[in-house]
Amino acid sequence: MRFGHFDDEAREYVITTPHTPYPWINYLGSQDFFSLISHQAGGYSFYRDARMRRLTRYRYNNVPTDVGGRYLYVNDGGDVWTPSYLPVKAELDYFETRHGMGYTRITGERRGVRVETLYFVPNGENAEIQRITVTNTSDAAKTLTLFTFVEFALWNALDDQTNYQRNLSVGEVEVEMDSPYGSAIYHKTEYRERRNHYAVHAVNVRAAGYDTDREAFTGEFNGLYDPQVPLSGVSGNSIAYGWYPMGSLSVPVELAPGESRVITVVLGYLENPDEEKWADDAHQIINKKPAHELLGKFATTEQVDAAFADLGASWTELLSRYTVTSTDPKLDRMVNIWNQYQCMVTFNMSRSASYFETGIGRGMGFRDSTQDVLGFVHLVPERARERILDIAATQFPDGSAYHQYQPLTKRGNLEVGSGFNDDPLWLIAAVAAYLKETGDWSILDEQVAFDNDEALADTLFEHLTRSFQHTVTNRGPHGLPLIGRADWNDCLNLNCFSTTPGESFQTTENQGGGVAESVFIGTQFVLYGADYAAIAERHGLPDVAAAAREEIAAMKATVEDSGWDGKWFRRAYDFYGTPIGTDEDTEGKIFIEPQGVAVMAGIGVQSTDPTTPEFAASKAATALDSVGEMLGCEHGLSLVYPGYTTYRLNMGEITTYPPGYKENGGIFCHNNPWVIIGETVLGRGDRAFDYYKRITPAYREDISEVHKLEPYVYAQMIAGKQAARMGEAKNSFLTGTAAWTFVAASQYLLGVRPDYDGLVIDPQIGPEVPEFAVTRVVRGATYEITVHNSGRPGARARLTVDGNSIEGRLVPYAAPGATVRVDCTV
Ligand code: GLC
Ligand code: GLC
Repeated sequence: MRFGHFDDEAREYVITTPHTPYPWINYLGSQDFFSLISHQAGGYSFYRDARMRRLTRYRYNNVPTDVGGRYLYVNDGGDVWTPSYLPVKAELDYFETRHGMGYTRITGERRGVRVETLYFVPNGENAEIQRITVTNTSDAAKTLTLFTFVEFALWNALDDQTNYQRNLSVGEVEVEMDSPYGSAIYHKTEYRERRNHYAVHAVNVRAAGYDTDREAFTGEFNGLYDPQVPLSGVSGNSIAYGWYPMGSLSVPVELAPGESRVITVVLGYLENPDEEKWADDAHQIINKKPAHELLGKFATTEQVDAAFADLGASWTELLSRYTVTSTDPKLDRMVNIWNQYQCMVTFNMSRSASYFETGIGRGMGFRDSTQDVLGFVHLVPERARERILDIAATQFPDGSAYHQYQPLTKRGNLEVGSGFNDDPLWLIAAVAAYLKETGDWSILDEQVAFDNDEALADTLFEHLTRSFQHTVTNRGPHGLPLIGRADWNDCLNLNCFSTTPGESFQTTENQGGGVAESVFIGTQFVLYGADYAAIAERHGLPDVAAAAREEIAAMKATVEDSGWDGKWFRRAYDFYGTPIGTDEDTEGKIFIEPQGVAVMAGIGVQSTDPTTPEFAASKAATALDSVGEMLGCEHGLSLVYPGYTTYRLNMGEITTYPPGYKENGGIFCHNNPWVIIGETVLGRGDRAFDYYKRITPAYREDISEVHKLEPYVYAQMIAGKQAARMGEAKNSFLTGTAAWTFVAASQYLLGVRPDYDGLVIDPQIGPEVPEFAVTRVVRGATYEITVHNSGRPGARARLTVDGNSIEGRLVPYAAPGATVRVDCTV
């Protein structure tokens, strides 16, 4: 069942009913000011850091879910409703939410009044703008009163939810009914002391009244669904002294039949230098100059429309670097629009704020953010460069890493621990992707701190060396890499042995002398070690490259030997040296992670032509066949099978989840692309594309009632085949799935992939997509690639470049400004 449809022309998903199976959200903002907004106008706003600078309040865990947002109440002759359906829930004659690139447009109509609100954060501004168009669709005159609504959070989102003994006494506001551009409410809690920032909520017309005290607005025992002020039709002109400061302005509107009126609402974040905090020090009146400047920029509809057009133009530019036109509209819309959009959201948010992440708990993950780079490096290469250097600066001198760092301070954060032994190798992955995309070799010579200590700074290349060496020097009894606290699978805690309720599996004291080993890190080392060697070579260090290649060859042999279980690669060896992910076990026989990455790294690959006899006998093909058989179901590939039914002390958090959920046999979408890419390596594009479609939201749109979450973005997890609610997704938007599916689709299925010295064209998508064209802008040149695809297993591309056929599949990079035409036959 569907709850809307895609509008590809407009780059929107159109939700046609408020009754989706879950709030379906979008993000506004791309620099410093961000908002989350659901299709019912729920959500909240923050400046830079969702924990430390929360502007508006949102209650996770609320009953019902998703009440809390920016709302507009309409009082139409006593009939009170909200065009976003929530919170009043009055039936609407028409409802539509369009989520687009950095904006959302919600339209509701009831009894001859249509209200369309466009929400967006303009480029370069610290504000959420609402352009509200009210239209009288009836044939009688209408006299309405509109009431805006936001509830302020007291800045620190954690404190805001926990420290009521203080917070209920600190709230302060100012009201400015005659602001130069309409009427405004200022939230200035804690401004009198150490803060130099405040928020403004304003309308661009003179309001009839205001409210800043939440209880006065709602009435003592009423909720946001039946608030007294909108019901009465008259603002209370209340001033908040502590308790719950909020902002509401009332605007009377008279409309002749067919007439429309446009009103702008602004929610802004402003700072003043310390010496200019006050307009009137004695009365503690804040200096509103920066707010007036902001409001002056959005005083007229023309200004708002121009800012909105500018936002659209910047997205058009961003999304022009990779576009495909194929016979499959679902593929096109995911690759061209939504997957790239989601990659930008992960760039902005990492894993901090979503409808599943409260914006309080998680900083930037070393592993998460380095992998995210793979998905957005082509969109914002300069910002990717900065991100890489920020992350590298948190690395420890021995090559290991803080597992997370704080976005505001950019410093490593020990609260979340270190010693996740896959972390360092992801840095090589990110730098390799950056170099391939940009050719900017100067990044390797950047001086970068270790542990944020400039005295320890060395080149970025040295950071890569320490990452590589960290695996070389941390190996266990089988010669495989030590796992440490965990590897990519945060929940595989083999040295942990936790018996204390509530203790974090990731940070608790590990059992001393832990020798648990990870086959996965072994495969990861072979994959990214090859990049390290290639980079060293091009960096003028052939001896370093040669020595690295010896280490890689040795690890490859170790994985093929100690890492092989007979029909697939093992996952690990535990604290006692017992294999994990083996047919000998009763549960947890096969894990997905090492299978895909091994094949990506070329481990066990004897042939890449499925029609040859040596192919079937190869470890690579055998392993991926086992993946399909044991881990596959219609909703994707599970992480492990069978999921564990009992808690295993020697394995940790993975065995805490019921089978079929999360790391314990959920379809953890992040690593499905590793298998997809592995299948393309083996020349089985048909399987690769099949796996891609199973997890890709546009292909799941028809089963939205099962999938439950947004049909336009990937979710971290889909409940696996042992789960009662198999196919139900959780944790949408902020997941490494975004980057990895984009890599899989753009670089391997469609096969257009930047390498160090040229663009590789190597499509492997099977017979379902017989013709397609890709436009790729890389290093300033444009490549127009036309593909005629037989989809035959094992078939590989033959290329004509500007009319001349070439050997191999590498198109050398052209000069900036050039247009290169590539004709590709597979
Ligand atoms: C979460 C984490 C990621 C980890 C994955 C598997 O998505 O953010 O770092 O790799 O879970 O445990
Ligand atoms: C929990 C989650 C896991 C995540 C980890 C680290 O264990 O289940 O997915 O990676 O926390 O935050």
